[in-house]
Parts: sequence; structure tokens; C-alpha cells
Amino acid sequence: MAERHQAPRGTRDLLPGEIERWQWVEARAREVLDRYGYREIRTPIFEDYDLFARSSGEASDVVQKEMYRFKDLGDRDLALRPEGTAGVCRAYLQHGMAQQGRIHRLWYMGPMFRYGRPQKGRYRQFRQVGAEIIGTAAPGADVEMIALFVDLFDAWGFRDLTVALNSLGTPETRRAYGERLRQWLAPVRAKLGADAQQRLETNPLRVLDTKSPEERALFEDPALGTMPKLLDVLDPESRDHFEAVRAGLTALGIAHETDHGLVRGLDYYTRTAFEVHDRSLGAQSALGGGGRYDGLIEALGGSPTPGVGFSIGLDRVLLVLEARGVAPAAHAGGIYLAAMEGTRTLAPMLARALRQVYTVDLDLEARGLNAQMKAADKSGARVVILLGEEEWQRGEVLVKELATGAQQAVTLEGLVEALDRLLGPAPVSDEAETR
Ligand code: HAM
Repeated sequence: MAERHQAPRGTRDLLPGEIERWQWVEARAREVLDRYGYREIRTPIFEDYDLFARSSGEASDVVQKEMYRFKDLGDRDLALRPEGTAGVCRAYLQHGMAQQGRIHRLWYMGPMFRYGRPQKGRYRQFRQVGAEIIGTAAPGADVEMIALFVDLFDAWGFRDLTVALNSLGTPETRRAYGERLRQWLAPVRAKLGADAQQRLETNPLRVLDTKSPEERALFEDPALGTMPKLLDVLDPESRDHFEAVRAGLTALGIAHETDHGLVRGLDYYTRTAFEVHDRSLGAQSALGGGGRYDGLIEALGGSPTPGVGFSIGLDRVLLVLEARGVAPAAHAGGIYLAAMEGTRTLAPMLARALRQVYTVDLDLEARGLNAQMKAADKSGARVVILLGEEEWQRGEVLVKELATGAQQAVTLEGLVEALDRLLGPAPVSDEAETR
């Protein structure tokens, strides 16, 4: 017998029963993004490998270790997208969007791919929703971004979030800070793992992002003294920017705190960087994050164009909602259309007409009435329409409400009115229990 296939390691099937919760989360996100006036953009799931190498950073883990890189049959060097920002900036340049307006507010939702070690909250295919403002360096854009970020979580029922905030300054600031970090860590250098030692050379800020408890403990070593802070080496303009962002958040009542160790995993950031975490997720606790990337579009060959944005990991949002017992949206029960021997051929026609408005299920296998009634119960239908032979002769059908068992003969002309009375005039609803 042929070996049965499994979904590839690190990927998951989202089945009916679970997908309703996803649809609810995605629908709430679309509503919020729409009210903020952001426009959707869809870019390809794969791009030139070089786009990601240049944007995420050659020395980043994402590029070094996590890229789904492949050659297509035309020998092109491609990669599945590990994140959305690079593709959005590439599209912005390719379509000359700068000529169509100075500021663009964009959002996207879709699968991303990173070849990491799968664990709770970390998958090789995962889904993000993200937003970007391209075209302004104003701190007000960072504030709006963070407000949108928080309001998305709010729409999903998250309360009391605190946004962790830092400034990464300019590339020069980061180089200066990297040098300070190297000096600071010199006494414990030999005790760091091979990866961290390598990073200390190529990308010293990333050393702070280690998940290893042993390495984290080293940072606390009294021999080292206090960790140097990025904010201490910030240039005056970046410092003013950071203060303006913090003041803007305070004015909006958005809880935030400075996290001096927040460095982000992608290399394109300048100035503002932010994240939110949920400790219940364990090691993979970041629900989302983002920041400013004022040099990225220029690095991709455009004229200097500032940008700021974020992405939220929907798989992790869903994990938290599940753990809190947030019920998936109930499948709105509709109609089961049951037929008898003499009316069987009419059923598909009537079902098709009713499906213009209602959710309708029916038997496809010419089964007896008992089997159909059992199927109706199982389907969660609220109403059965029975196409009785005699009733049909009189231009009527039987309408039965399953909860009460109440049954009445209804004329075809009166059917819609009767159904509206039983099911309500707006039968399709995607409301979920949110708390
Ligand atoms: P990121 O921090 O790399 O940022 O990813 C954002 C979020 O995606 C993470 O906080 C996490 O929730 C989720 N995520 C990342 N990797 C995985 C994974 N393997 N499995 C499940 N969830 C994951 C970005 O992607 C940037 N593009 C954000 C941004 C937009 N910055 C500026 N604009």
C-alpha cells in the first residue's frame, strides 16, 4: 500500500470547526483596517531571493537559516517570502506608487514561510496580518501605526496590552552601539555559544535577542556592569523622534514601556521598534512587532523614502484565543430541504433558489425520509422544509422548526415570509462569542 502523506513538518491543516475562529479574527481585522483607511495590497508568495537578502539583512537568521530558497525550472533564484514588508516595498517601487500620492497606507494578510524548528507558536508556514505607512518620517505615523496595532488586538478581545518600545537610531548609531556591546561582552565572550560568538562579529545587536537562558544569565553577570543602552548613543534627531512617539502614545492612552533589549530580528529597522508579547505562549511569545525602516526603499534602489509598519502573527493570536476558551463562531444553522419519492427531482431546483438567500443543505443520495430527518438534526439546521407529495400538489410545503417540533403547511408564495420569521431576515452571520 502506498505510504500515506502527512502535511510537511511545520505546516498545519485548518479544518472546518477551527477555521471559523480564523475567519472571525480575519474579519475583525479587515473592519479595523478599513476604518483606519488602509488599502489592501497582495504581493506574490515568492520573490527573487535577492530581495529578501537585501532587505532582511544578509546576516539575519531569517536569511542565513530560515529561507525557503529554490531554483525554478528557468533557473531563477527565488524564495518563499519570510515576511511581507520587502514585497510591499518592491511593489511600491515597481508600480511608481510615489507618483500616485506622497503617503500610502497599506495592509496585507497571508502566509509567510520560515524554516525554523517547529514548536508551539512557531511554524514553517504561518499567517500574518501587517500594515505599512510609506512616505512620511513624521513621528505621528509611528504613533498611528502603534494605535492601529493595539486596536487590532482590542478588536480580538485582548485587553491591558503593553507595547514594548525602543529606538534603533540610524545605522551609524547601531554600529556605535554594536561596538559598545562587543566591549561590554568581552569578559564573557568565551562563555557564549558558537552562534552568539559569531553574531558578536557580524551582527552584535542580535546577541541580545538570544532565547538561551544560560546566555541571558551571562548578561546579568555583575562583572559586566549594566548593559549599555541604545538610547544612550542615539543621535539627537532620533532621540527627539523617540520622545515625540512616546508623547503621542501617552496622549492616546496607549500603555507602553521602553525595552532596552528590544532589537528585532530583521535588519532593516531604523529608529522606532516595537513589539507585544504574551507570556502564556512560552518561548515564542511575540504576538507581533514592527518599526520604522527609513533606509529600506533606498536600499532596494528607490529614492530615499521613509516607512513604518508592523506584522502580527495570527497563529499566535489564535493560540491565545483558544487557550482563553473563545468559542469559534457557531455555524449559523439554516435549512434542511427534505424530499419524498415524488418530489425528489424538485429538491435541487428549490434548494438553488433558496440558496440565493439562506444556508441550505439537502440529501444527494435519494435516501428515505427517516435518513433525511436524521441528517437534518446532525447538520445543525434550524428548519426543515419537507416537500410532501400531497402538499406539493396543493402548491404548499411543510415547514418544521426543529427546536420546537412545530410544523405548518405554507404556500410557496408565503414561504419567504415564514422563513424570515423563523430564521430572521439576515440569516448569514459571522458573529462569535468574543469573551
Ligand atoms: P517579525 O517580528 O519577524 O516582523 O514577525 C511578526 C510576527 O510574526 C511575530 O511577532 C510572530 O507573531 C509572527 N511570526 C514570525 N515567525 C513566525 C513563525 N515561524 N511561526 C508563527 N508566527 C511567526 C515582520 O515580519 C516584519 N515584516 C514586521 C514589519 C512590518 N516591520 C515593519 N513593517
